[in-house]
Amino acid sequence: MRLSTSQSFRIYSVALFLLASTGFSSVTAQTKPAADVTEAELYRPNFHFTPQKGWMNDPNGMFYADGYYHLYFQHYPEKNVWGPMHWGHAISKDMIKWEEQPIAIYPDKEKYIFSGSAVVDAQNTSGFGIGGKAPIVAIYTLHDMEKGKDGKLDTEQQDIAYSNDGGFTYKKFDVGNPVVKNPGIRDFRDPKVSWDEARKQWIMVVAASDRDHFYGSKDLKNWQFLSEFGKDLGAHESVWECPDFFSIKVEGTNEKKWVLLQSLGQGAANVGSGTQYYVGDFDGTNFTVDPNFEQRIKREKAVWIDYGKDNYAGVTWNNIPTSDGRRLFIGWMVSLDYGGSVPTNAWRSSMTTPREMQLIKKGKEYSLISNPVKEINKYISKSIKNKTLKGKGKLELFDAAKIDLRQAVISFDLKNLKQDTYTFTLSNAVGESLTFGLNNSENYLFVDRSKAGKIDFSEKFASIVHKAKLDESQKAATFKVVLDKTSIEIFYNNGEKVMTEIFFLNQPFNSISASSNQGIEISNLVFNQLSINQNQ
Ligand code: FRU
Repeated sequence: MRLSTSQSFRIYSVALFLLASTGFSSVTAQTKPAADVTEAELYRPNFHFTPQKGWMNDPNGMFYADGYYHLYFQHYPEKNVWGPMHWGHAISKDMIKWEEQPIAIYPDKEKYIFSGSAVVDAQNTSGFGIGGKAPIVAIYTLHDMEKGKDGKLDTEQQDIAYSNDGGFTYKKFDVGNPVVKNPGIRDFRDPKVSWDEARKQWIMVVAASDRDHFYGSKDLKNWQFLSEFGKDLGAHESVWECPDFFSIKVEGTNEKKWVLLQSLGQGAANVGSGTQYYVGDFDGTNFTVDPNFEQRIKREKAVWIDYGKDNYAGVTWNNIPTSDGRRLFIGWMVSLDYGGSVPTNAWRSSMTTPREMQLIKKGKEYSLISNPVKEINKYISKSIKNKTLKGKGKLELFDAAKIDLRQAVISFDLKNLKQDTYTFTLSNAVGESLTFGLNNSENYLFVDRSKAGKIDFSEKFASIVHKAKLDESQKAATFKVVLDKTSIEIFYNNGEKVMTEIFFLNQPFNSISASSNQGIEISNLVFNQLSINQNQ
């Protein structure tokens, strides 16, 4: 069965009600907040973006202009469950510290504002500009709940709205909407628009059931259907959602490729939702996957940007200046499997750490790698650089008093790896722990959060060990681990494999150890203390 987020959350709401009446509240009651944190704010991350109150899902409409990164998001400000979708809004100078803004786009009664994108129309191709200032044009799905309930096929269409104040307030283009009519496909949503410099056209990619449709336009108002992509390639366990499409240089060369990011609700590497990607070429009409990448997809079934459970519906920023040139990404840090039941009250869910995506080529094979944006380094308040550690059995990696693991970046290299399992354990004083590491005899990375505090809000949360398969056993490896109060993001071998996972502890982790049977050799071990307080 194919479930979209809106369908899933309707089910979640029922599940949540059932949980509330069958002991969910007693789980919450076990929580012992630290003295300086109220119960309502207990699981508020230190630096990952969360809305002040209410429900949040997908990141939407991200663009950069006038020194600010804009982030909109699927938002229901009244309750902490999915509901009438607005575009919430936040701005940041560095993607790390965010200032939440008033709601940018409101729904009209039963017509919800679903996911989409925004562009800076620098040439005023749309004609919406006033007084020489570039308009911001938001392109989103208008989802008609009434039609949806009646089972109508044309429930979703693509609309636009424009802003003449730099993206803070928008006017809906009522006379011209929809700019893309529903073609008779029930799930037809999440337009991502970007500028195709080579063809001097706007391109829109829209998820249409289990594939994508491409459209082209000269003015953002009139769109022509170009092509369809993806029916037979990659994962299709549920409808496709939130595509992204961009050209990117292969690192260290002048070669350019096109990358399609494609989220879907079921069928990801560790069951549940995830984002797969495709690398290929675009001729202005058709997207064609590179033959070697196609082989890789067939071998691996699908290639994912993240092998953890908790990175969904992520897309990249538009309008990053050429002088910067980065491809910058943020995702919604939860899985559709339990997004509606995570144990927070005032708000629900957060975004991932923003990441830089790069395309690398090894032999004939392309890979999209991601790493935390460099801006996070501005917030390092203290570094502990340990010397190399070597030993068998359990090794304590640091003196717990020195680093607060509720906001830290830990990196290290492993050398002389054997056919062994290298396990890293984060733990606290009340016996909770999370393990991650490398199984180098069966060739996979893993995260096990089954002992990491509250897990019983969903049976899908920690029932299996989450794995990222590797092609072969490794001789050496590098890890970068970003920790917040409720999340771990593991960047393996400079972001070649990423695992993003959330957790809900009763007390913070205050220890990290390593263990192996045959002995571990750790070098370049660095603990970076971050000091970021979103609310200051
Ligand atoms: C993905 C999604 C999108 C949709 C939005 C609704 O999580 O289902 O496809 O536009 O959420 O909130």
